[in-house]
Amino acid sequence: MSNLRPESMERITTPALAEAFIEEQVAAVRQQVGDKKVLLALSGGVDSSVVAALLIKAIGKQLVCVHVNHGLMRKNESESVIKTFREGLDANLIYVDATDHFLGLLAGVSDPESKRKIIGKEFITVFAEEARKLEGISFLAQGTIYPDILESIKAAEGKKAVKSHHNVGGLPEDLQFELVEPLKLLFKDEVRVVGEALGLPHAMVYRQPFPGPGLGVRCLGAITRDRLHALREADAILREEFEICGLSEKVWQYFIAVPDIKSVGVKDESRYEGWPAIIRAVNTKDAMSATIEEIPYEILHKITYRITHEVEGINRVLLDLTPKPIGTIEWE
Ligand code: XMP
Repeated sequence: MSNLRPESMERITTPALAEAFIEEQVAAVRQQVGDKKVLLALSGGVDSSVVAALLIKAIGKQLVCVHVNHGLMRKNESESVIKTFREGLDANLIYVDATDHFLGLLAGVSDPESKRKIIGKEFITVFAEEARKLEGISFLAQGTIYPDILESIKAAEGKKAVKSHHNVGGLPEDLQFELVEPLKLLFKDEVRVVGEALGLPHAMVYRQPFPGPGLGVRCLGAITRDRLHALREADAILREEFEICGLSEKVWQYFIAVPDIKSVGVKDESRYEGWPAIIRAVNTKDAMSATIEEIPYEILHKITYRITHEVEGINRVLLDLTPKPIGTIEWE
C-alpha cells in the first residue's frame, strides 16, 4: 500500500463500506504476516484500539498487545482497555503497570517539553523491554492514520512543530520490525466507522482525543502524586457530568488542568488551602485552531459543587475562555 491516498479512494462513511474495508485489510494483513507474530502498543486510544480489533479479526492470538500504564491515564482507563480487549475480544494482552517508574522519573521536572520527552522516551524503553521478553515477533502494528502521514511529510519539508507529539516510533535498532499499518490511508472519521463495524464500544470509538503524555501535561509544572490524583478525580467528574447533559457528544475535547498554585479557602470553618481545577472545553476541526464551548451556567455550578466537595485538595473551579490561538488546547 502506498503512503499516499489515491484520489479515487471512496470515503468510508457507512457500515457497508467499512465491512468492505475490513475484509480487504483482513486479507492483506494475513498475506503480509503469514503465521508470524505481531506486536502492538495498545494505548486505548481510537486508532490503536481499531488496529487491535482489526488484527484480532485477521490473526487472532498472533497479535500480542502491550498496554503500558504510565500512571498518567484518566480514571479507570487502563481497566477499561483490559476489559474490552482481554475479556471482550479474548486478546493476547500484556498489561504493564509502570506508574512508579514514570512518576519517579518525572519527580521535580517542571518544563513541559522535558516532561514530554521523558514520557515519550520512557514509553519506548518500557515497551521495548516487554518486546525483548517476547519470542518470535516479526512485525510491529501501529495505529498510524492519514493525518500522521501528512504531518510527517510536512515535517520532512522542515515546517516547525509547536509541540513534540509522541508515538511508538523510534524503537531501538535491535527491535526494528516490519510495520503493519492497516489504517494509514484513513481519516479519523473513517477509523471510527470501521471501529464500530468491528464491534468496539461506542464510547471507545468516539472517545475524545487524549494526548500521549496523558494527564502529565495537565498536572502543570512538576507532577506530584497528590495533585495528579486530584486532577484525575476532578476530570472524572467533568466527564461524568458532560455525559449526563449530552455535552460529551458535542464537544471535541474537554478536560481539567490543575496548576501548581494554591489559594486560600475555607472549609468546616477552617482555613483550607487548595489548588484550582481549570475547565477547558474546546471545539475544532483540525486542532490547529479552536473555539470555546459555551457551557450553561447551571452545569458549571453543578460541576463546581461536585469537584470542590468531592475532590480532596481542590478549593476553586475556574473556566478557561481562551480560543486557540492564542492559547494552545493543552496548557502545556
Ligand atoms: P495543542 O495543545 O497543541 O493540542 O493545541 C492540539 C491537540 O494535540 C493534542 N496534544 C498531544 N497529543 N501528544 C499527543 O499525542 C502530545 O504531546 C500532545 N500535545 C497536545 C491535544 O490534546 C490536542 O488534541
